[in-house]
Amino acid sequence: MTQSITRIRPDDWHLHLRDGAMLAGIAPETARHFARAIIMPNLVPPVVRGADADGYRKRILATTGPDFTPLMTLYLTEETDPADVVAAHKAGIITAVKMYPAGATTNSASGVRDFDRVRGVLEAMAEAGIPLLCHGEVTDHSVDIFDREAVFIDRVLDPIRRATPALRVVMEHITTSDAVAYVRSQPENLGATITTHHLVINRNHILVGGIKPHYYCLPVAKRETHRVALVDAATSGDARFFLGTDSAPHTDDAKENACGCAGCFTATNTLSILAHVFEEAGALDKLEGFTSRNGPEFYRLPVNTGTLTLEKSVTPISYPAKIETGVGPVTVFDPGFPLFWRVL
Ligand code: NCD
Ligand code: ZN
Repeated sequence: MTQSITRIRPDDWHLHLRDGAMLAGIAPETARHFARAIIMPNLVPPVVRGADADGYRKRILATTGPDFTPLMTLYLTEETDPADVVAAHKAGIITAVKMYPAGATTNSASGVRDFDRVRGVLEAMAEAGIPLLCHGEVTDHSVDIFDREAVFIDRVLDPIRRATPALRVVMEHITTSDAVAYVRSQPENLGATITTHHLVINRNHILVGGIKPHYYCLPVAKRETHRVALVDAATSGDARFFLGTDSAPHTDDAKENACGCAGCFTATNTLSILAHVFEEAGALDKLEGFTSRNGPEFYRLPVNTGTLTLEKSVTPISYPAKIETGVGPVTVFDPGFPLFWRVL
């Protein structure tokens, strides 16, 4: 008998859609399966004001059609005007604000250098109930890249949360057992997104047997014990952990390069991979919480009304190795094992 599961349609709580020809090429990969997504603002130039977010939202909707809802974010800079943030939120244009430490990742040059300079914005956000989404890595050159998330918790995140305890915060794309433990130790107003690829790869996948640029993303995948901690958190049923794919397309020439860009593109096969990972963990019953219930609960939004069905086939499913876009091909994340769950 064919095994199939029908669940509430999922959302993606951390997604890069880019703009222009890249947006047009890759947005259908998400809109096909997901009802809503939190849209990252790290365009060039970044989405910093409410009016920028409104324009970008319209360009996304023109590509996807109305069956997909982009939940917009603003890119926090040291110049961000608290009144603009609050007004954009009140007008329903934005859902959250994203904080990148300056230089932490792709297109983050306008990020925050001095966290004291954004204190006023954070206080206004706490009062208005606007979540802060953190790229949780310090950028200090003396800190090893594999330690940057754990150090961020101690040096930046915990001090911000102590200074502004009412602020709702999401640690984006967590990659360490330190982050899992920190989230578990904190009250409900701290949540965390976990990507698909960090549930699958550890740092060996990037570095052993030749360098694999399509597995390079930020925060970089850590050692196996951390991957296991992430699977444990995602499949535990703890509502503070939810899916944020961080699907981040770059063209192949930008990835397969002497200075390759960070980002894994998982939109196309994310749900098939997640079903595999949750099944392996004996936790298929927790998949709906992770993809469809925990996120809306944190964001205080209704769960989706539609459903999505996954069916397990006997032979491996096929999916495109690359998505062709007007700016070049984008390689789809290869989990390194055959997939059997197909989205109907
Ligand atoms: C993201 C991108 O390409 O925009 N890259 C990545 O490796 N995750 C930026 C980010 O979310 O850090
Ligand atoms: Zn991201």
